[in-house]
Amino acid sequence: MQLLKGEKEEILACVKEVLGENSKTHENLIPILQQVQKKLGYLPALAMDKIAEGLKVPAVDIFSLVTFYNQFRLNPPGKHEIKVCMGTACYMTGGDITLESFERRMGINEGETSLDRHYSLDRVACVGCCTLAPVAVIDDEVEGKVTPTRVDGIMLALEEDREDNAIEKSGPKVGAEDE
Ligand code: FES
Repeated sequence: MQLLKGEKEEILACVKEVLGENSKTHENLIPILQQVQKKLGYLPALAMDKIAEGLKVPAVDIFSLVTFYNQFRLNPPGKHEIKVCMGTACYMTGGDITLESFERRMGINEGETSLDRHYSLDRVACVGCCTLAPVAVIDDEVEGKVTPTRVDGIMLALEEDREDNAIEKSGPKVGAEDE
């Protein structure tokens, strides 16, 4: 995933700060990863490389660890975070179809973020609104009875927001820096 303008510097500063606040031992690896994720919203590859350097551990070990634990996120959160509930009630009422509908319309799979970072899509466990199943959470707002038709309406609203944004801020938001 491309880094946004200025993001490389932000990542380097964040890792430096977190490493400076913790002793650089193996035992601190998970707390360090958690702190960096909390500040950046995810764990970019560049951050994992710099943490590996700082702790003198192979980068591949860090990558294996973060892919093992669900708590770590490798993709940046989108401007709009869409979470589809896959708890039992939602699954039984078509949650998988809802998820597929979002995937098809966004052109990404669950767990991914669109290249322009307008959307990210994730599955979640029961959010406690089972009577509204199937449920999706759009930027912390719970939406009930999310059929494929409802997905179309939600996507339309989110796309309108993209156009508004493009008019307000002319020019691409994504920089040319690579991770
Ligand atoms: S299972 Fe989806 S809200 Fe409970």
